[in-house]
Amino acid sequence: MLNPSEFIKEAIEKIKDEIGNEKAIIALSGGVDSSVCSVLVQEAIGDNLVAVFVNHGLLREGEVEEVCNIFENRLNFIYVDASSEFLNALEGVEDPEEKRKIIGKVFIDVFEREAEKIQGKYLVQGTIAPDWIESEGKIKSHHNLALPGGMVLKVVEPVRDLYKDEVREIGLELDLPKELIYRQPFPGPGLAVRVIGNLSEEKLAICRKADLIVREEIQKEGVDKDLWQYFAVLTDTKVTGVKGDERDFGYLVVLRMVASVDAMTAYVPELPWNVIRTISKRITSEVPEVTHVSLSISDKPPSTIEFA
Ligand code: XMP
Repeated sequence: MLNPSEFIKEAIEKIKDEIGNEKAIIALSGGVDSSVCSVLVQEAIGDNLVAVFVNHGLLREGEVEEVCNIFENRLNFIYVDASSEFLNALEGVEDPEEKRKIIGKVFIDVFEREAEKIQGKYLVQGTIAPDWIESEGKIKSHHNLALPGGMVLKVVEPVRDLYKDEVREIGLELDLPKELIYRQPFPGPGLAVRVIGNLSEEKLAICRKADLIVREEIQKEGVDKDLWQYFAVLTDTKVTGVKGDERDFGYLVVLRMVASVDAMTAYVPELPWNVIRTISKRITSEVPEVTHVSLSISDKPPSTIEFA
C-alpha cells in the first residue's frame, strides 16, 4: 500500500472520477471498514453520499449512541431503527443459519427502501481483500448489484485491495476515533448468534448486560490488546443457583475470549484469573437472571469462535 495520506489522495480522485455528481449510498455498520469507506467517499463527493445506519435490534449496549455520536455531524447520515421489523421476522426461529438468512433478507428490504428514497446510483461497500480472496477471487471490482425490488446499483469498493491493518491506518489518518478503529470484530447478525435459541427482548437485554461487563473488565485490565474477540454468550440452558436461602433457576452464560490473527483459527490464551473471577461475580450479581457463568476453553478448530 502507498503511505496512508497518498492512498487517501489517490482514492479520493478515483472516487470523484467514478461517481461524479451522482448520488451514492452506503450501509454504515460502525465497523472499521464501512466507517473508513464512508469518510473517504464523503471527502470525495460530500453530501452526495448518504450513509444509512440500520439498527436491527441486535446491537450491543451503547452501540447505537456511539455510532450516531461519531457520524451524525460528520456525514450525511440517516439512522433507521428497524429493530421491531427484525425481531418480528425472527420470532420463534432457533436455528442460527435460519436467523442469518432472515436477518440478511430483512436487511436488504430495509436498505432498499432507503435507497429508493435517496435515488442513489452507486452503492459503496467496505469490502476488503480477504473478503473476496477467500470467497470468489473472480468478482470484478466494477460490478452491479440488483436489489430484489428491481433497483440496480453500481458497486464502488474503495478499500477492496487493503487488509484490515491497512484500513486501520487509513482510519487513523482520517481522524476516526481510536475506539472505533481498534474495536473487536462484531458479526453482522449481531447478538442473534450470541443468544442461543429463540430470541426475545428479555434474553437480548441479559446478553447485552453480560457482554458490557465482559468488555468493561477486559478493557480495564488492558487484556483487550491480546484478544481478537471477547464476549458473553447467553445459552438456552437453565441451571440451578442459590439466592439468599432460596433455590434459583436461571441462565447459563458462557465467556468466550479468543486470540487470533484472521479468525480462520483461534485459541484461548491464558487469561488473568482475577479478571475471569471479577467478570463472573459481576455478572451473577448485576444480572439477576443469570445463575451460572462458565468459561469456554475450546480452540478453533474444532470449535468456531461464535457459539451459533
Ligand atoms: P466463526 O464463528 O465462524 O467466526 O469462527 C469467524 C469470524 O466471523 C465472525 N462471524 C460472522 N461475521 N456474519 C458476520 O459478519 C456472520 O454471520 C458471522 N458469523 C461469524 C465471527 O465473529 C468471527 O470474527
